Amino acid sequence: MLEQHIQSFQGLFHSTPQIHASAPGRINIIGEHTDYNGGYVLPAAIHLRTHVFAARRPDDFVHARAENFGESASFSLKSLGPSPKHHWTDYVQGICAVLREEGFRLGGLNLLIWGDVPLGAGLSSSAALEISLLRAVTGLFDICLPPEKIARLGQKAEHEFAGVKCGLMDQFISVFGRKNQALFLDCETLAFEYYPLNLEKAGLIILVYDTQVRRTLAASEYNKRRREAGAALDVLKAEGAAGYKTATLEMLESARGKMEAVPYKRARHIIREDERVKQTVAALKKDDFLSVGRYLFQSHESLRDDYEVSSAELDLVYDLGRDFPDCYGARMVGAGFGGSAIALIKASAEDAFKEKALEAARQKRFPQPVFRDIFVGEGASAVLLDQKGRL
Ligand code: GLA
Repeated sequence: MLEQHIQSFQGLFHSTPQIHASAPGRINIIGEHTDYNGGYVLPAAIHLRTHVFAARRPDDFVHARAENFGESASFSLKSLGPSPKHHWTDYVQGICAVLREEGFRLGGLNLLIWGDVPLGAGLSSSAALEISLLRAVTGLFDICLPPEKIARLGQKAEHEFAGVKCGLMDQFISVFGRKNQALFLDCETLAFEYYPLNLEKAGLIILVYDTQVRRTLAASEYNKRRREAGAALDVLKAEGAAGYKTATLEMLESARGKMEAVPYKRARHIIREDERVKQTVAALKKDDFLSVGRYLFQSHESLRDDYEVSSAELDLVYDLGRDFPDCYGARMVGAGFGGSAIALIKASAEDAFKEKALEAARQKRFPQPVFRDIFVGEGASAVLLDQKGRL
């Protein structure tokens, strides 16, 4: 497969690629909308990845080709800025800009980008793109950065060039993911631990149900949730909480009269979800997937009712899961407002579950979903190539 892209690169740029970098998308087992609230998350990298081939140019121009869109674009490193309309080149410009803001001198670049992380599916295609670009560009210009910093720069590009004030979860797992392991991350301290996901031994799979609904509203609603959660935290701080991690439901109840109904609900989700992440980790340690599944269902209910980021299409997966004996748990993943849901089901029941889900979507006249069997894969990597573009 790489061979074919080397040829495309040579055909486009009349030079050979000097580095190959790639980075994965993710699923999140549990801990949704907790990252930017200084809480806990439990994501896992998936086998779907974004790839970048890159080579230096002797000028100040970046020439980039996105194979998946069949589009090429060029810009000067001297005039970086987000486009008025959201466009894939914003990410490329954003990565160059954040590196330059750190004081690194970049030269011109030829870039070929491709991959199989579906866009807008809640599987974090933007982080996969940011991190693969960061690994390619830093590798090419001998810029040595700690992995946490790579994740932070990806997040900064997302804030400044994509306009989404995201947390750090997606970029962090894209950098640090490990095969068959979930990563338990404290988003305040960035302390983290890996926990094996012994799904196969338990005869289980995680099925991704991509609703095919892509919501353009997601960025503004996401940023709004962030503000609402922040407003509730300000009140909780007056009650003695240092942050969400130290806030309790009791504190929230005693502060209830001092906050509006909406921030109250947002805070209730965050406090409970943080607790669920810890409970899920405890259950995973014992391979107790029945309990893991129960927390997934509870997480969805809270995201639907308190954080209000679900959608009818995502709720369908939860409802189905509740009625399907071989489904241990199901919930929406990522920011919400469309995208994907995951279902933890017995491997032997995969076909039956898919059939039921397809039928239910048809009856409700929802878009026909796409199912993805997800394997938990490795984090980002980069390899310098020889003069012929070989590994
Ligand atoms: C998006 C963001 C993450 C996180 C999730 C919700 O994926 O990029 O930082 O906030 O939504 O948990």
